[in-house]
Amino acid sequence: MQSFEFTAVARIINGVGSALELAAQCRRLGVERPLLVTDPGLMSIGLIQPVLAALEKEGLSPLVFDQVREDPPEATVLAAAELARRGNIDGVIAVGGGSSMDVAKVVAVLLGSQQTLSELYGVDQVTGGRLPLILVPTTAGTGSEVTPVAVITTGETTKAGVSSPVLLPDVAVLDASLTLGLPASITAMTGVDAMVHAIEAYTSRHKKNPLSDNLAVKALALLSRNIRTAVHEGGNREARENMLLGACLAGQAFANAPVGAVHALAYPLGGHYHIPHGLSNSLVLPCVLEFNASHAEELYAELAEVVIGAPVAGSASAKSAALTAALRQLVDDVKLPATLQQAGVKESDLEMLASDAMLQQRLLMNNPRDVSYEDALSIYKAAYGGGA
Ligand SMILES: NC(=O)c1ccc[n+]([C@@H]2O[C@H](COP(=O)([O-])OP(=O)(O)OC[C@H]3O[C@@H](n4cnc5c(N)ncnc54)[C@H](O)[C@@H]3O)[C@@H](O)[C@H]2O)c1
Ligand SMILES: [Fe+2]
Repeated sequence: MQSFEFTAVARIINGVGSALELAAQCRRLGVERPLLVTDPGLMSIGLIQPVLAALEKEGLSPLVFDQVREDPPEATVLAAAELARRGNIDGVIAVGGGSSMDVAKVVAVLLGSQQTLSELYGVDQVTGGRLPLILVPTTAGTGSEVTPVAVITTGETTKAGVSSPVLLPDVAVLDASLTLGLPASITAMTGVDAMVHAIEAYTSRHKKNPLSDNLAVKALALLSRNIRTAVHEGGNREARENMLLGACLAGQAFANAPVGAVHALAYPLGGHYHIPHGLSNSLVLPCVLEFNASHAEELYAELAEVVIGAPVAGSASAKSAALTAALRQLVDDVKLPATLQQAGVKESDLEMLASDAMLQQRLLMNNPRDVSYEDALSIYKAAYGGGA
């Protein structure tokens, strides 16, 4: 067996209502005055107030930062860190999507070490510690609650990652009741993002291993069997629980077996068109799988049966094609646009997008097949639709 390494969050708590019991976790970690990081949308729909009230009822004095913007810019991180410093906080909690969790991760490091934000970017650049950290996702997508990564927007079209095991929280709390009101389109986009995490972890070129494989397969089964119900029947608790767990398992898989070309080609779409991360992934997913098939068809054949939920007849290549067809159908069923053209991408930008995708070598090296500039361009052309 090939040797491998696997890193995980020390404690995952899963259960409806568990977000109302954060005080016990704070106490365990010696936290009295946590900074609670969230976004204005979640405050305005009243999702955060019960969590705060439960902390206060147990005698804690939380301080709230509720100004997280989607795809959080550096200014958001710095503002949250400044509030935390002035407020003498002793721990950080995020209740929100990937954006809030990523801000919380970096703030916990900035408050717990002497480093500046710009010193943290890259792999293993965090040299100090961090404050106690509890992450509570409200989307079933990024898996950020169990990944050692935070993604920050650094310029108009650029993002940078902080990647360090120090960013893994002390506790990840999965409370599906927080996701019951997630709008259908966000459910669809974030759900497909999580499915892509599982698919790309399963075909990750260098670091896939028996633990990430099992997590990816279980995640993909949970996600593909529940995403339609979660989108069309948002209040279905069981579907929401399965989606949240599936996204977490997929996050744990790709935290150890990193994602590849789907994400590499998705990032420029987010950067230039502000297309949400999950939708960007969804738009290029089938065409990247078709491109990869010659190098990964045995693995795709295995995943076809997981996504379809029944044995699939035929050769590995037929099964791999069945996986792509099933994913195209799923994207249609959850009402996401299918082509770059439908998503508003300009045909004249495809070359520029392909050049940008080439900058994502950190991700492309995990892809089962090498991707050249010409390959990226032909994938974008295929994803554009309308015979571009
Ligand atoms: N750290 C990682 O490992 C990792 C991985 C992938 C992506 N990311 C990052 O995560 C971010 C995307 O995160 P996301 O997709 O979870 O979305 P998000 O946090 O950006 O939130 C998107 C929108 O959904 C709303 N929302 C969230 N939960 C809701 C709920 N329960 N009910 C109603 N509305 C709700 C928010 O208010 C917001 O308007 C990006 O910045 C991306 O780069 C991080
Ligand atoms: Fe993703």
